Amino acid sequence: KINESPNTNNKYEKKISNLPQDDGWKPVGNLYKYQGFWYGPSLLQNVISAQESFTPQPSDIVLCSSPKSGTAWLKALAFSIVSRNQVNDSTNPLLKKLPHEIVPFLEIELAQDSNNRNLEIPFVATHIPYDSLPKPIIDSECKIIYICRDPKDVLISHWNFDQQVSGIGSESFPLEEALEQYCKGIYPFGPYWDHVLGFWKASLEFPEKVLFIKYEDLKTDGPFHVKRMAKFLGHPFSMEEEEEGDPEKVVNMCSFENLSRLEVNKNGKYYLPDLPTFVNKSFFRKGKAGDWKNYLTDGKAAKFNQIMAEKFSGSGLV
Ligand code: A3P
Repeated sequence: KINESPNTNNKYEKKISNLPQDDGWKPVGNLYKYQGFWYGPSLLQNVISAQESFTPQPSDIVLCSSPKSGTAWLKALAFSIVSRNQVNDSTNPLLKKLPHEIVPFLEIELAQDSNNRNLEIPFVATHIPYDSLPKPIIDSECKIIYICRDPKDVLISHWNFDQQVSGIGSESFPLEEALEQYCKGIYPFGPYWDHVLGFWKASLEFPEKVLFIKYEDLKTDGPFHVKRMAKFLGHPFSMEEEEEGDPEKVVNMCSFENLSRLEVNKNGKYYLPDLPTFVNKSFFRKGKAGDWKNYLTDGKAAKFNQIMAEKFSGSGLV
């Protein structure tokens, strides 16, 4: 199972064992509800540890998402935007490294040591929900970008990914069951709607601090949203750069078609402490908007849409 780890850190064990539990997301096993969201035990220890000790660098940019919403894509885009004057299309580290190796996760690599990273790269990423983020991130000048995606595609992507990583096949964890868990909000970092709403509301309240972008918008007009991100991050594209087509170059470098064909992303592996080894290609499945249509009937999709519409109602987000 995905979250089982031989080096469990006993410090938080008692606290965690008293939390509400559910074992319906089979690839992970027992999940625990902490501050309104569900986590596997070792990841939760890391989240609590990060809350207690993480300190960002003042210039850090925090890239946030629910799992399977386009995290790797956001990492690639934000990194390419900010480093565009230091690297070009033949020296971009993305050609040799998985985006996750360039931008570490707060709740994985940095959970115990905020500086366990290349400090010259001003990015950290996280799946931690807005209200549970370590306080120094909120209190600092750090900018936050959040990516959200059609929850039906997130479900399909998550279900496929967790099956592959855990080795638990669809006979033991049918899509029906995953859908049911998603509708209840009980899966790692769920409920989806609360995750999205936390960042959405923060982006309305603090527009200088939190930028909210949608996976589907990036698909339909990449250059426009790349320019938006660049401006938000204080690295706007100049007129000359726009005339040279630099925003389009970033979009092309980071496109699914480009990244997924690179040797590192086809055959490389990604090692993380206390987690199973990931094959890089599992982070590049189809990269499409609307793949859910190949998995969910219209009836199931309608039920799912209705739940999301109720949860998002009145928020201005749909
Ligand atoms: P699919 O499983 O639908 O293909 P995350 O990075 O948060 O784990 O999200 C993974 C999803 O993003 C996967 O979706 C993956 O294929 C897709 N993805 C990865 N790189 C992408 C890119 N450059 N452009 C668009 N989608 C991408």
